[in-house]
Amino acid sequence: PRSYAPAPLSVAHLLDTPPPDPDNVTVNGFIRSIRNQKQRSFASVGDGSSLEPLQALLTPEQAQNLSTGTAVRLTGSWRPSPNPKAQSHELHVVGLDILGSADSATFPLQKKYHSPEFLRTIPHLRTRTPFNSTLLRFRSQSIAQVTDFFAGRDFTQTHPPIITSSDCEGAGEVFSVETAEKGRATAESDGSFFRSPKYLTVSSQLHLEALAQSVGSVWTLSPTFRAEKSETARHLSEFYMLEAEVNFVEEMEEVMSLVEDMLRHLTKGLYNSRVGQELLHGKRSGDQAEEASKRSEELERRWQGMMSESWPRITYTEAISLLEPHSEKFEHVPKWGSGLQAEHERFIASTVGNGQPVFVTNYPKAIKPFYMLPSSTDGSRETVDCFDLLVPEVCEIVGGSMREHRLEPLLSSMREHGLIPPNASSAEDLGTLKWYIDLRRWGSVPHGGFGLGFDRLLGYLSGVPNIREIVTFPRWVGRCDC
Ligand code: 4AD
Ligand code: MG
Repeated sequence: PRSYAPAPLSVAHLLDTPPPDPDNVTVNGFIRSIRNQKQRSFASVGDGSSLEPLQALLTPEQAQNLSTGTAVRLTGSWRPSPNPKAQSHELHVVGLDILGSADSATFPLQKKYHSPEFLRTIPHLRTRTPFNSTLLRFRSQSIAQVTDFFAGRDFTQTHPPIITSSDCEGAGEVFSVETAEKGRATAESDGSFFRSPKYLTVSSQLHLEALAQSVGSVWTLSPTFRAEKSETARHLSEFYMLEAEVNFVEEMEEVMSLVEDMLRHLTKGLYNSRVGQELLHGKRSGDQAEEASKRSEELERRWQGMMSESWPRITYTEAISLLEPHSEKFEHVPKWGSGLQAEHERFIASTVGNGQPVFVTNYPKAIKPFYMLPSSTDGSRETVDCFDLLVPEVCEIVGGSMREHRLEPLLSSMREHGLIPPNASSAEDLGTLKWYIDLRRWGSVPHGGFGLGFDRLLGYLSGVPNIREIVTFPRWVGRCDC
């Protein structure tokens, strides 16, 4: 006989593996829904470990005070279900403890379909829904996969700063950092805490370049902030960017292959994981059978594309010539020299890719940041060694480039971009990026890297159309609720 209570099993564990002692099972979880009949009640119980709930069989007396959201500890026996199509086993409850009650009259999450717009109004509760908790586990598993990939390639994971003194991308979309009571912290200085304007980082790239000169190849998955007033399904003010920087690399193709290998490794790992399969084939709340199978098919296509070899690589100039014959389809006329709009990227991704992500390389120099290395191809049109990776619907998920590693050309590019005065001579003239220029003075070698919009990638792989559902507490223009 036991003298101690068995340790609780997670719902996922129970659904996947026969319990060691089927007649003595304990589970902690939350009631998702309850269905009462005359003789017995059926509760659907989840604990966030599984998209699928377990079914618990109770007496009407046991079920009396249970409602959606109640936290319970259930003990009982795990028995084959009479309806194996719905679930293979069910829990015949013997003991029930209510650990946390929930008033069904006020609890906003009920057993019914809640729209994404409604759930966005309660981000502190929405992660309790089966699908949103699955997205949390998906993110965690994705981080485990990229960590594994980079460790296998001897990359060092680093923590670059969040507060910076420069705008890496030069797009003027930085949030500035102030103390709540301006001036109080440094009474004797010019009134600001850091003595000069500081910003939340828009990219860790410049700092990663410094670190790559120290340990070779580096990566980070860091919070990134952009004050873009874009109210699209792809833009957030705060998001996670996965960035890597490789030193001693001559060819941009190598950096693109690194991106490919990383995303292939990540997707394969997810494909073979429980949570990956839940997202590909699991039932989501509000699903109609037909729509669910369509979604599964589409997701399989996306994942197979990510796991495939040799993704198409075309130049920006080629992209423009593919777009031009279809000009009338677009709101913005595609033209050499202008950036690719989302509608253009969508067209390229779906027509060139055939399910595979597509690299577009060598954009015009004039529309790209100061740090990019000019391409060594034809001299008539100035382009830089850069690339974007495009996928259907979500469009750009990665941006990368070779960096200008030579001192003099970097200084001229910075002059052209107005980052330093035309005839800068003293150290002060070099401004807030003096440290970055320094990197070119001692032991500078060809290098390059990329940044992956992590939340965009997760949205693409999970088939969630809006990035606001991918991030737990999303922030965008006009919205930062809790
Ligand atoms: O293309 P971006 O601007 O590239 C850089 O910042 C480089 N310095 C990265 C590097 O080379 N280390 O941003 C990289 C990716 C984009 O491709 C996009 O997926 C994502 O970051 N991104 C956003 N994701 C969500 N919300 C936003 N507002 C985003 N802006 C960019
Ligand atoms: Mg970009």
